[in-house]
Amino acid sequence: MPTPMIEVESVTKRFGANLALDHVDLEVTTGTVLGLLGPNGAGKTTLVRILTTLLHADEGVARVAGYDVVRDAVALRFMIGLAGQYAAVDELLTGRENLELVGLLYHLSKPERRRRASEVLERLTLTDAADRLVKTYSGGMRRRLDLGASLVGRPKVLILDEPTTGLDPATRIDLWQFIEALVADGTTLLLTTQYLEEADRLADRIVVIDHGRVIAEGTSNQLKNQLGGDLLEVTVASHDDLDRAAGLLTGLGAGLPTVDRSRRRVTTPAEGKAKTVIVAAERLDAAGIAIDDIALRRPSLDDVFLALTGHSAAEGVPDPAVDEEIVGAGRGQGSRP
Ligand SMILES: Nc1ncnc2c1ncn2[C@@H]1O[C@H](COP(=O)(O)OP(=O)(O)OP(=O)(O)O)[C@@H](O)[C@H]1O
Ligand SMILES: [Mg+2]
Repeated sequence: MPTPMIEVESVTKRFGANLALDHVDLEVTTGTVLGLLGPNGAGKTTLVRILTTLLHADEGVARVAGYDVVRDAVALRFMIGLAGQYAAVDELLTGRENLELVGLLYHLSKPERRRRASEVLERLTLTDAADRLVKTYSGGMRRRLDLGASLVGRPKVLILDEPTTGLDPATRIDLWQFIEALVADGTTLLLTTQYLEEADRLADRIVVIDHGRVIAEGTSNQLKNQLGGDLLEVTVASHDDLDRAAGLLTGLGAGLPTVDRSRRRVTTPAEGKAKTVIVAAERLDAAGIAIDDIALRRPSLDDVFLALTGHSAAEGVPDPAVDEEIVGAGRGQGSRP
């Protein structure tokens, strides 16, 4: 049996009447990447804060690297790298100073702090900007520096809360490559994301949460297979035909069609490969509905999310302003106290 690096058993957290986490169970095997996928307000950050000892659960147990997140919190803070959802670097210091300061929190000697800061700057291609004040950095550079801060302590387990949210596509891909290199070196990673393609690309296993509850888990392929085969996608020539087309395409596979009005598209589960396309085309033709495009495709994680939650991953509920509730004084690596 491979040993779990992160174990979460029945963790529950309430904020007043709001049940942010509802008996969540999960495990991350050492050396693997778990993608915690969920829309706004799903409970991702709440779980991250519990795992990184910043917040206490109301019920349940969580262990990271064998340490209990409550009982062994002080020891654990030095074991985990955390990069939060919002960059936690100091604007009025340079990139290098920020990293050396994190080294100080680890009680590293001055030469060792210098060495590690340079190494991290190099890996994140920030060397050229290292001696500039962070307030002159772009959003992507801050994100990279924040991630870098979580690496100074060379943690075996890294927890990244939406590491690429708000980044442009090129920077996101850079960061993915960097994360992949860390994982290849043996780092265990828990990563939260709202981006299905990010979970698809980086995660060995995916846990989907919505409203504080685990609603699905498995590899990205297993989740896609839960949808039962391929999807038929038809783009009609005229908006006016959308609802009629959806009616005609019902029953080609298990499950109901969904209509995307902005794209003039009907998507429906389909059984039986090419034959389904012919049957669908014939039905639409017989009804006098002109089509622009018709194709079978494998479901994406986005389809899985839509099928599981009834809403797309992009349209989460906005977070209301919330009061911070922080347990303990200092944070571990990755951010400044
Ligand atoms: N300190 C707090 N006080 C009160 N309510 C909170 C607090 N932190 C989180 N919540 C609530 O708990 C729920 C889960 O929030 P959480 O921040 O964990 O979601 P999330 O999945 O990280 O969302 P996002 O993708 O927007 O970051 C939300 O309903 C949120 O409003
Ligand atoms: Mg969050």
